[in-house]
Amino acid sequence: MHQSARRLFTPIAPTYQRWATILSLGQDPRWRAEMVASMNLETSARVLDVAAGNGAIAQLLAARGCRVIALDQSREMLGPARQRGFTAVQAGAEWLPFDDDAFDALTLGYLLRYVADPAGCLRELVRVVRPGGMIGMVEFGRPRSAWGVLWWLYTRAVLPAAGTLLGSGWSAVGRFLGPSIDAFHRRYPDEAVDALWQSAGLSEVRHVRRSLGGGLIVWGRKA
Ligand SMILES: C[S@@+](CC[C@H](N)C(=O)[O-])C[C@H]1O[C@@H](n2cnc3c(N)ncnc32)[C@H](O)[C@@H]1O
Repeated sequence: MHQSARRLFTPIAPTYQRWATILSLGQDPRWRAEMVASMNLETSARVLDVAAGNGAIAQLLAARGCRVIALDQSREMLGPARQRGFTAVQAGAEWLPFDDDAFDALTLGYLLRYVADPAGCLRELVRVVRPGGMIGMVEFGRPRSAWGVLWWLYTRAVLPAAGTLLGSGWSAVGRFLGPSIDAFHRRYPDEAVDALWQSAGLSEVRHVRRSLGGGLIVWGRKA
């Protein structure tokens, strides 16, 4: 279970957050911040951050006073989240070890490209949120038109080269990322992402593209 994601993330866990920020040209912290800010969460809301990694989203939630649980399939990725004091749960997003309606809200950052059945996984995420609760997602987008050409060059030439220079697992990530993002957006163009969320039981679904289309943020409310 989760073997390919585990292989990918284990070696980069200690350096993930620093290099992810640099390789996204400083953009991904902005997408996370907008996702969290627009959820209008109550102070002390109970929030599950799924695919929490090092806890970058969990930190933003905690700064708003939310009570956060960080969940990830990777013990190594969760290490820094634990060091930051978060309650960390090692589990797969496909079978969450929580009761129905257990959380006021849920966030997911860069998860759905790693699961075999995004629709089923999303239904499982919705299950643990109370009716009326918000779900927010941040994911890489795929820029269109002229920016799409530059994005293609960046993901197919610059990222693999940068990954090779960095070593320690980043070369695999540098080669993996562009094709993985492309495949996800071929399967789920923006309209299909909205439909996916609606069919998982979410209403008020909306998405925005940011950074010339390189970032995608989606929100929805459990009906
Ligand atoms: C690119 S990192 C994102 C981490 C964090 N959300 C952020 O914004 O920095 C993707 C994370 O998804 C986790 N992951 C991948 N597949 C998963 C699954 N099926 N269940 C839980 N976590 C998963 C990986 O272990 C990794 O930590």
